[in-house]
Amino acid sequence: MAKLLVDGGRPLRGTVRISGRKNSAVAVMPAALLPQGTSRLENLPRITDVEVFLSILRQMGAEAAWREDGSIEVNAERLYRLPVSFELTRRLRASYYLLGALLARQGRAEVALPGGCDLGPRPIDQHLKGFRALGAEVSLQRGTVKVQARQLRGARIYFDVVSVGATINVLLAATAAEGTTVLENAAREPHVVDLANYLNACGAHIRGAGTDVIKVQGGHPLRAAAHAIIPDEIEAATFMTAAAAAGGDVTLENVIPTHLEPVSAKLKEAGALVLENGDSVRVISTERPLPLQLKTMPYPGFPTDAMPPMTALLSIASGTSLVSEGVWENRFAHVNELRKMGARIRVEGRTAVIEGVDALQAAPVEARDLRAAAALMVAGCIAEGQTEIFGVEHLDRGYEGTEEKLRALGVRVQRLREE
Ligand code: EPZ
Repeated sequence: MAKLLVDGGRPLRGTVRISGRKNSAVAVMPAALLPQGTSRLENLPRITDVEVFLSILRQMGAEAAWREDGSIEVNAERLYRLPVSFELTRRLRASYYLLGALLARQGRAEVALPGGCDLGPRPIDQHLKGFRALGAEVSLQRGTVKVQARQLRGARIYFDVVSVGATINVLLAATAAEGTTVLENAAREPHVVDLANYLNACGAHIRGAGTDVIKVQGGHPLRAAAHAIIPDEIEAATFMTAAAAAGGDVTLENVIPTHLEPVSAKLKEAGALVLENGDSVRVISTERPLPLQLKTMPYPGFPTDAMPPMTALLSIASGTSLVSEGVWENRFAHVNELRKMGARIRVEGRTAVIEGVDALQAAPVEARDLRAAAALMVAGCIAEGQTEIFGVEHLDRGYEGTEEKLRALGVRVQRLREE
């Protein structure tokens, strides 16, 4: 267990390179179980979620290891038929992608229900509906999901809610289904497109990823391919928000500016200057942020994962902001901690009413989930004095090299082991 000490209250200045996208990495890694041969996955972030997935792949019998150049090679030609240990799968939500991947690969899978951040109920009914439509038998016993099918068959599947996880899971399974699968009301997130690009590079026939209708011609043999994971737009959004909140001039390299548009638009509305230049984005901020009205939605709406850092920014805005959470039932775990730092925030149902204060004060605070940790990191950059952030293991699940990156922006930061 560790804590971060962040000395805030000064503008951020400098350049940071954004890492590969966590939520894409944890979808492409299980997909690497499908092709014959060795896939090389580049631009993977060195974060706990990726390390855990690597351990899961190895425990299943796959060869999977980091190379010196920072890429990972995965060869899954030999796999054991054992259920994956709950010890590992419980540590990250994305372990449920093993259901879709193994169903495609060997016609059966058994995975304990996943862990991940506590954001309210996190049902997987849409994943299971998709598997059933493809002809799989699905059962749920003592917290473990079992899926099996002698032969998957293409189907037309309409998702009742827009779900990133269900879209990815059913897409994985559909690569092995005979005939055509059509996914309707599919998630359009860039990491769905990233996964489809990797699978297509391996020989799959997936069209329409990035729109709400995805068509898969299943049953094509897949051969391993090299693939570079897209940049993490939520990590980028976190640093952009920190720069806009604390003031300064920050350049982020290795980003895809179009993926950042929902966040850039809101930061501009809050008064920051956001300049795009090829694969970099620069945020300049000299004034106190303006208040905003914001609602999180599936892509291309404002991302729910970027909302907690944004509430930290709005807590020092020059007026009252309204932030509505449109994806998760309970995503305001960071609000109590921001209050300890002097923020004036009231949560009414799924909306936070944020009355901007002149400044935040440093305080000991505790992160209880990944993006709450990111919000506290941003608050630590804003607040005068030294903010002590406990629960840093949550941050480490999704952010690579946080201290080095903050230091590159002139923030004094230390990591201490908790006693
Ligand atoms: C992914 O979670 C991300 N996780 C989350 O990021 C992110 O917040 C979320 O998408 C939304 O963008 C990963 O990619 C590993 P969903 P996921 O299925 O796939 C409901 C982070 O901080 N739903 O799109 O689990 C669900 O309850 C994490 O990086 C059903 O009703 O999210 C929610 O209200 C946290 N039935 C909504 O859909 C289902 O079968 C969206 O969930 C599935 C979902």
